[in-house]
Amino acid sequence: MFSQPEITQIINDALQRIQTNQHVDRLYEPVRYAIANGGKRIRPLLMIMAYNLFRDDILRIIDNAIAMEVYHNFTLLHDDVMDKAVMRRGKPCVHVKWNENAAILSGDTMLALSYRLMTENRAFFNCDADPAALYDAMQQAVNTFNEATIGVCEGQHLDMDFETMDDVSEKQYMDMIRLKTSLLLSCSLKIGAQLALAQPRQADLLYTFGEKIGLAFQLQDDLLDVYGDPKVFGKNIGGDIVANKKTFMLIKTLEMASDKHRQELKKWIAMTDFANEDKIKAVTHLYNVSGTRQVCEQKINELFAEGMEALDQLNVTDDKKNPFRQFALKLMNRQS
Ligand code: IPE
Ligand code: IPE
Ligand code: MG
Ligand code: MG
Ligand code: MG
Repeated sequence: MFSQPEITQIINDALQRIQTNQHVDRLYEPVRYAIANGGKRIRPLLMIMAYNLFRDDILRIIDNAIAMEVYHNFTLLHDDVMDKAVMRRGKPCVHVKWNENAAILSGDTMLALSYRLMTENRAFFNCDADPAALYDAMQQAVNTFNEATIGVCEGQHLDMDFETMDDVSEKQYMDMIRLKTSLLLSCSLKIGAQLALAQPRQADLLYTFGEKIGLAFQLQDDLLDVYGDPKVFGKNIGGDIVANKKTFMLIKTLEMASDKHRQELKKWIAMTDFANEDKIKAVTHLYNVSGTRQVCEQKINELFAEGMEALDQLNVTDDKKNPFRQFALKLMNRQS
């Protein structure tokens, strides 16, 4: 079995080799910038870890793995335009460093590049297994990828719609983050299992593990958007508050706050003319006095436990499960 640092190194090397210097070089500058600029690489890592549970020849699926990372980076370019974010991974967002057109078109190019990587991986067929089974596995993996890529757009659409809605429920929020965030994690794991020709039950358990961990991951992201250290988090703090994002924190505070605090929060949500730092400070204060952070952390722990339940049922030895447990634990406690 490969260690996580070993796999991450393989992923970063492969990402560097993506052909991006063709014809119109300026189109690819933001692509290279986005891909080179750090990032935790959790989606390709999960895909390869899942595959590695069943098989050792992980290089056969490296193109599928980096396809997922390129797709993820595409979503970030467009997400930063939609969210009016200015900083990512400690550096200016593409639409700030270049312009919005660059973020749109270089993002589109990355979407297409990700599909090319996912669907044109010839190395995968270089093995002794029955070619028909390999073809079928690749077809299943592409189907899973389609499910993920379309679902993310649906989630992003809901995320934007919710900005102007004032009655978003916890359930609606959880359904939205399942689409925009969890799907890429759960589908990465499922694709890893599918390409390894694992039993469908094993692929489904890994999917459920990723789904739960992905939900917790987004809750933690929302928490860090309020309480994170921008130098470590790499993104500006308070963007969700400014944009009236219906995060778990906001929804729960509306639910749990005293009447007075609820009215105050609603006043800030309705306000159109304000200084960002005033709104961030006031809303953060309302979160603090309402005890929402603890409720959010409790929810993260519950989801983590649910993820572990799925992992427990997986039909592999405990020493193979441990890296997944450690990885999930690290994600739950991440600061960046
Ligand atoms: C950012 O994802 C978008 C969310 C789903 C919260 P990551 O936190 O995985 O971003 P990088 O790739 O590590 O920068
Ligand atoms: C993450 O949502 C979902 C996608 C980017 C698809 P966020 O908008 O919370 O992600 P960050 O915080 O900008 O990374
Ligand atoms: Mg964003
Ligand atoms: Mg967003
Ligand atoms: Mg966020």
